[in-house]
Amino acid sequence: MDLRYRLNHPERLLSPSLILFEEIIKANLDAMIAMVGTPDRLRPHVKTHKMAAIIGLEERLGIHQHKCATIAEAEMIAAAGGHDVLIAYPLVGPNLDRLVRLIRAYPETTFRVLVDHAESAKALSRAAESLDGPVSTLLDIDVGMGRTGIDVRDAAGLFTLVADLPNLRPDGLHAYDGHQRASDPEERKRASLEGLAPVLELRETLIGKGYPIPRLILGGTPTFPIHAACTVPGSECSPGTSTLHDASYAAKFPDLPFTPAALLLTRVISQPRPGRITLDLGHKAVAADPVGARLTLPDLPDARIGGQSEEHLVVDLDNAGDYPPGTAMLAIPMHVCPTVALHRRAYVVRDGDVVDEWEVTARDRVIGI
Ligand SMILES: Cc1ncc(COP(=O)(O)O)c(C=O)c1O
Repeated sequence: MDLRYRLNHPERLLSPSLILFEEIIKANLDAMIAMVGTPDRLRPHVKTHKMAAIIGLEERLGIHQHKCATIAEAEMIAAAGGHDVLIAYPLVGPNLDRLVRLIRAYPETTFRVLVDHAESAKALSRAAESLDGPVSTLLDIDVGMGRTGIDVRDAAGLFTLVADLPNLRPDGLHAYDGHQRASDPEERKRASLEGLAPVLELRETLIGKGYPIPRLILGGTPTFPIHAACTVPGSECSPGTSTLHDASYAAKFPDLPFTPAALLLTRVISQPRPGRITLDLGHKAVAADPVGARLTLPDLPDARIGGQSEEHLVVDLDNAGDYPPGTAMLAIPMHVCPTVALHRRAYVVRDGDVVDEWEVTARDRVIGI
């Protein structure tokens, strides 16, 4: 096992539990700042950790801009002292009123939102009528993922609408290229820049029409090195996974300088037959995606991950007899973001010792608003 994952006295800790290696989180944040050159160009997505304590770490490092997907995450960031929050998720229905209440409740924090449809923009403007000032609104552009975002060819019209609506202030463009997953960094770069090119053209067109474009918010972790090199004024990078990183990204993108920082403590609970152990890592403790192997077991490199149910994970290995019930070990989740959201609290390890417990503050859909 990597020495950075030293854990003294695991016998004192519950399993299954989430274990955060604080030095690694700090090293990941330092690497993120180094890649982008200045914390002012970073806007990490909090969906990965959902923790007020990590917002505090980021703010102390000079990272004052944050991205999130839910109103609860936005509220968590504001309550933790985050200065600037982009809710990068279409707000519809009751979430519009929740946004208005959030803006009123946290006057010290700047909230930004995005839209990709004329009806959403109009509904947002109506909801914002009672506020003291316009809501900073970015246009979400689809750069090929096909999930949210307007087709770049239709974007200028929607931008004009946002500029004309009484309670919105156009705040720039947002382009998330989460579908760019080529392992080869050059191939990833080529595909990502190809997707970005029409967005840059749109930006020029809008500036030509006299609109200021203060912000261009780009990408996640795999394309972070590419967008970190972007020289467009106002460009920001919004990786999320890199804060805690995981086994899936570490295997697929070895060019990225991040290390998994959130592991799971697990125990053997049964040896149902020769050559098999069962761990307490069901899909209520580790995310059920991706299908197949949901985690790696660094102490058992030859293990074959088998069936999983709510509280059980079957693992086959030739020397299963060496791991009697009660044996504790660490696992690295393949997909850290939904794994973290399965835990209310996490043990925080520094120099091998548990020094704190952090709450996964925004794992609930509603905190106060
Ligand atoms: C809109 C948006 N921005 C940024 C990210 C961060 O991406 P990553 O998890 O690759 O860091 C995500 C991830 O889901 C996202 O949906």
